[in-house]
Amino acid sequence: KKVNVAVVGATGMVGRTFLKVLEERDFPIENLYLMASKRSAGNTVNFRGKDYIIEELNENSFDKDIDIALFSAGGDLSKKYAPIAKEKGVVVVDNSSAWRMDKDIPLVVPEVNPEDVKKHNGIIANPNCSTIQAVVPLKALHDKFKIKRIVYSTYQAVSGSGVKGITDLEEGLKGNENKLYPHPIAYNALPHIDVFMDNGYTKEEMKMIDETKKILNDYDLKITATTVRVPVLYSHSESVNVEFEKEFEVEEVFNILENTEGVVVVDNPKENKYPLALDAEGKNEVFVGRIRRDFSVDNGINMWVVADNIRKGAATNTVQIAELLVKYNLV
Ligand code: A2P
Repeated sequence: KKVNVAVVGATGMVGRTFLKVLEERDFPIENLYLMASKRSAGNTVNFRGKDYIIEELNENSFDKDIDIALFSAGGDLSKKYAPIAKEKGVVVVDNSSAWRMDKDIPLVVPEVNPEDVKKHNGIIANPNCSTIQAVVPLKALHDKFKIKRIVYSTYQAVSGSGVKGITDLEEGLKGNENKLYPHPIAYNALPHIDVFMDNGYTKEEMKMIDETKKILNDYDLKITATTVRVPVLYSHSESVNVEFEKEFEVEEVFNILENTEGVVVVDNPKENKYPLALDAEGKNEVFVGRIRRDFSVDNGINMWVVADNIRKGAATNTVQIAELLVKYNLV
């Protein structure tokens, strides 16, 4: 079965990657519509050897026969246009944070909670990039050993802030002033991603905490997080410290992760092998290594988790959700 697909924000960093991933994964497209702002309207983009003209997004954009719309044009546009699309019978898969914590909207990582797509009412949310890569390895371990507490510490790439983040790093390395971040990102580490909340956490930290609970469907989990922007272009790295209810052998953790869909274990310290941001760039999988017992607590483990934030953290996961919609005959 082939479907009609719209890409909203087709010229953006994630939007362009949607097109690459759709092409690579042979997504069954009948008609493709590309939408962006007035600035890009009229430009052409090549997809599978054919040129497509970018249309300006407006209230009539979804009057056409569209089955699925992949949105990545920012939260404000998602808030405004996803309900319009939904009203016209389109199923929206939204990469922004606009709808993620809405209780009527599924928040889906296909390796973790694929069945949740069946509960959609016209909108499905794609989680935050840092959350996605963490829950892929955590789900299988949670099923087996039951997670009690998680401590997330992240080292996040500037591409998570879009083109402006990349520009701040590249210009900063040349000695020019930062425009986007409140401090230089070149040669620095900023413990500040998204805005600060009243509780002293950043919004990015609260996204990781709240979204993990929703995706794993376990609101009793104890989770804390510190999220940090580092001078890396692509791929987020994360230290994930987990305490389980049950006892385990480190060997079992290796076995489970080696057999978890979407996870690649890279862990051979003797040969200096562990997941690296540069190696994960352009890949769709989540790389896990430095797996070792946390001997400071009962039943604890440490892991180093790396994935391409634009791919698995955004475009790949969104396209995988669209694949589930087709697979389950929901469009
Ligand atoms: P455009 O390139 O025409 O500005 P990024 O997250 O990489 O900054 O990309 C944002 C995406 O959202 C781009 O495709 C951008 O299109 C699109 N966008 C931004 N503002 C609007 C708007 N007012 N209407 C439609 N698309 C928009």
